[in-house]
Amino acid sequence: MSFPADFLWGAATAAYQVEGAWNEDGKAPSIWDEFVRIPGKTFEGTTGDIAADHYHRYKEDVQLMAEMGLKSYRFSISWPRVLPEGDGAVNEQGIEFYSNLINELLTNDIIPFVTLYHWDLPQALQDEFGGWESRQCIDAFETFARLCFERFGDRVHHWITFNEPIIFQTFGYATEAHPPAKRDPFLLYQVSHYVNLAHARAVLAYREMGNKGEIGLTHVSQPCYAYTNSDEDKEATWWAESFGFHWYYDPILKGEYPAEYRKAIEAQYGKLDITDDDLSLLKSARSDFIGINYYQPARIAANNQQAERTADRESNTSAAGTPSFCGRYRTVLDTDQFEYTRWSWEICPDALHDAMKRIHARYGDIPIYITENGLGDEDLVVNDEILDEPRIDYIRRHLLACQQAIEEGIKLKGYYAWSWIDLLSWLNGYKKQYGFVYVDRDNKLKRIKKQSYFWYQDIIATNGESL
Ligand code: BG6
Repeated sequence: MSFPADFLWGAATAAYQVEGAWNEDGKAPSIWDEFVRIPGKTFEGTTGDIAADHYHRYKEDVQLMAEMGLKSYRFSISWPRVLPEGDGAVNEQGIEFYSNLINELLTNDIIPFVTLYHWDLPQALQDEFGGWESRQCIDAFETFARLCFERFGDRVHHWITFNEPIIFQTFGYATEAHPPAKRDPFLLYQVSHYVNLAHARAVLAYREMGNKGEIGLTHVSQPCYAYTNSDEDKEATWWAESFGFHWYYDPILKGEYPAEYRKAIEAQYGKLDITDDDLSLLKSARSDFIGINYYQPARIAANNQQAERTADRESNTSAAGTPSFCGRYRTVLDTDQFEYTRWSWEICPDALHDAMKRIHARYGDIPIYITENGLGDEDLVVNDEILDEPRIDYIRRHLLACQQAIEEGIKLKGYYAWSWIDLLSWLNGYKKQYGFVYVDRDNKLKRIKKQSYFWYQDIIATNGESL
């Protein structure tokens, strides 16, 4: 049997995308609560005000997980729900919600896998000191992390500090598609360093507090391939890979920044505030595991047309076929050669396998979790049945890639499909679905099990044998 007996068959969500109850029981607004209210920023003005209403229906949702046989559920904690001011008084009602959710999961033999930061920074911190633009945010994050470890650490033994830094930083500071919607590449790099420090401080706090579980971080994993063999496409790929892979993974897994790339970006944008003490801190806090979110590879070409990445929502929702924020390369969309989803995301299970091999080659025998992978689609609904065959096919092929990686000796410990239930897509509203469970938005958010729900149930029951 290639999947280990303790393999975590999971599925994931994130607080803002699933909970709703955006202003209830003492929760303060996050930067997303404010951002979605700016006209034109989200698809048809959709918000997470109600989302899938998981906040009120978590018991029903956990029952559905239990019935499916889900081994583990990845969710995130909304920072402004537990600390409305970011680092001030604790909102006990917020703590109670997560505590109840965790207990409900454990009662049903489902292992909680918790993300601390899935992009919903308390608005108060953005207003007070510019959020991640300031070192003060590192202290605030440590306060938040310590609170979570203290209140939930007795029951939660798997922690992710940050979800996809590259996305909230690029979209937040280079393409204006996420809050705080700025266009300032220097800040993007500076913020990325402060977030790495916040991660390191949380890792050290976790260990110092004597917790017994594991702590890591989740990055996007998007292997880059030169579109042609030309020197200019290969050079463009070096830039893409240095930014998307090495700039983000090296500080977390090696405690350093890729030197040549750092030199190049500092020459272009200015000297970053990175001290020797910072680097020692990063070195002392290697993650126990790396989480990877994999959706697609990138086909990279030189940006010959010198096109600029625009700030509009559409060009930021489909990754293929757009220039990079720095103008040095662009991604290529080639429907003749490659297979794509409706949102022009390339479907390529081999690249998932390759991503794990690249991580293994660069960072050694680090345990890996696939913390997100899935198909965003508009599902076919026939007489109240959700026929999401394309999702089954997508996940099955990616799981086969996982199986191959395990057989080759990669320490893959779990797979979390994105997503457990249909939820808010940040920039595509409720139109783009990922879940095993359908949410009927015309009928009081009624939950309906999709075809993929039953399929995954069988995969879990056979520990992957029926793949
Ligand atoms: C990841 C995020 O980037 O991709 C999720 O961690 C997100 O929160 C998912 O929903 C899919 O992205 P999208 O834009 O298709 O909803």
